[in-house]
Amino acid sequence: MPIAKLIREGLERMEYRGYDSAGIALVNDGKIELRKKAGRIIDINKNGWLDSMSGQFGVGHTRWATHGRPVEFNSHPHLDCSGKIALVHNGIIENYQDLRKELIARGHNLKSDTDTEVFPHLIEEFIGKGFDLKDSVIETVKLCKGAYGVVVCHADTPEYMVVARKESPLIIGITPGETTYCGSDIPAFLPLTRKAIILDDDEVAVLYPGEVEIFKVKSGEKKKLDMMDVKYSMEAAQKVLDGKSYKWFMHKELHEVPRKIKEQIMMPQEDLDSFVKTILEAERIFITAAGTAFYAALAGKFLISNFGGPYVEAILCSEFIDTLPNMPENSVVIAVSQSGETADTIEAIRYAREKHGAKICSIVNVVGSSLTRYSDEVIITTAGLEIAVASQKAYCTQVSALTLIALRIAELKETYSVEEIKKFRDALLKTVDIAENILIEEGKIREIGEKISNETNIYFLARGISTSAALEGALKLKEIAYIHTEAYAAGESKHGPIALIEEGFPCIFIAPPDATYSRLIGNIMEMKSRGAKIISVVADFDENVTEISDYTIRIPIENNKYAIATSIVPFVLTLQLMAYFVSDFKGLDPDKPKNLAKSVTVK
Ligand code: G6P
Repeated sequence: MPIAKLIREGLERMEYRGYDSAGIALVNDGKIELRKKAGRIIDINKNGWLDSMSGQFGVGHTRWATHGRPVEFNSHPHLDCSGKIALVHNGIIENYQDLRKELIARGHNLKSDTDTEVFPHLIEEFIGKGFDLKDSVIETVKLCKGAYGVVVCHADTPEYMVVARKESPLIIGITPGETTYCGSDIPAFLPLTRKAIILDDDEVAVLYPGEVEIFKVKSGEKKKLDMMDVKYSMEAAQKVLDGKSYKWFMHKELHEVPRKIKEQIMMPQEDLDSFVKTILEAERIFITAAGTAFYAALAGKFLISNFGGPYVEAILCSEFIDTLPNMPENSVVIAVSQSGETADTIEAIRYAREKHGAKICSIVNVVGSSLTRYSDEVIITTAGLEIAVASQKAYCTQVSALTLIALRIAELKETYSVEEIKKFRDALLKTVDIAENILIEEGKIREIGEKISNETNIYFLARGISTSAALEGALKLKEIAYIHTEAYAAGESKHGPIALIEEGFPCIFIAPPDATYSRLIGNIMEMKSRGAKIISVVADFDENVTEISDYTIRIPIENNKYAIATSIVPFVLTLQLMAYFVSDFKGLDPDKPKNLAKSVTVK
């Protein structure tokens, strides 16, 4: 296959990491050919604009703008003055302003507003001093503070390319003896090879066709290769499930929830045990994450205490350092993340571990990701490849894993009898069938979705653990359907938000029949009596909330305390599906919401 098309297809599979501009640079007979533009790859490649490039090898990039607007001159790849070096970068060079000033003073002509552009110019200087490409990259990264995954090619050295990594992921794919690929995630080369090598922090690799050499930046020492087999199926990167085609990845991935949570619930007990032991040995327990993973973390906090476990403090990872300038000794931090690469999450756990000696227990979806490498204990979630930018099936597996943790703690602490623990576990397993039924009956959720699709403001309200469900439901609708939503604990309405209630203001109540139920009814009535339109998500057998609601979505759970205590995933799956239907109904792209990226590797 022509190299440009191969790179363009890889970029399309990586678009979930950023999609405001893209470009490719190829080495072609001692010259670099560069094409880049703002916009989505599909538009940039109209009439084969990218595919028609020719060359022997090269680099490509799809961007999520940080430094510099998403315009052509800020898009990657970036070149040096000679136009012989092409480079793509993921991460942020924190000292780029100083480096940039120095380069300009030394006569370099920088054309973009990005932090990245200092890289090719510094490499150019080292090459000018007689270093080869590999050593020039090593000397350059020594000057750069911050995070980077960089890929560099030079028109005069067509035999190899050089890549380097610090705190931003970089994975090498290889067909031994033939071809070498690399990307910031495995989908970049998923159809091309099943052999991968994960580059570690402070390493540089030289990529030859079908051969790789890895070196430590500090010592220059060569490292033994550690090759792994990629387990993802090809179907995982396509909008197809069980032979059925889906319009969007989000819809397909929501339909994977039953099988994915089943795998999670059936995970080996041994993998859970040392994780739980580490948690129970700590004096203080924190749980941290970002975005949807944070709402899974919040559910985890409630699950652990609802099942009689210790108090867990949930802190957003972007707020972690500022909330805990003096972290207590003997702490454990549970970190939850789909990608395992979210820069805020990594920063929080590295701070806790390096500054305060905390142990890190991570719940991560991506095997070999940075978070797994910085953790003492890891539970791998079973969601598999999640491509839709807004996380959903990963959330469901995270909460299933956290429920297992809570139940194991309850078992060890003997908060429930052995028989009762078994009943909770059986009920948890039944969430697989409940999720299945929700998906079979998804047309009912679509109907409610259509009813709210013209709204501009919606409150999502609940109490206790369901507040975490409300927060996730509100986030999903906001991020993929662009409706302004607000979620908060329902008891707070009277302390402020109720001021906005007028005739027809939509309020979505998540109302499982748990200990919060009767107090929640009071909160619903406060809103209803001021004219709010009440949409509720209730248990199948519900009567009271149904009676006072304008619309209800019914969740097929059994009427017993075991089913009720383990039903958060079915409730959230319903809200995620509803957000999906609203987005699709409005003609939006639920897979790639504007301004977002799946894996945010900048702080
Ligand atoms: C981004 C995504 C969210 C995700 C969050 C945390 O903002 O758009 O869907 O929840 O990152 O990502 P993580 O990979 O750490 O779960």
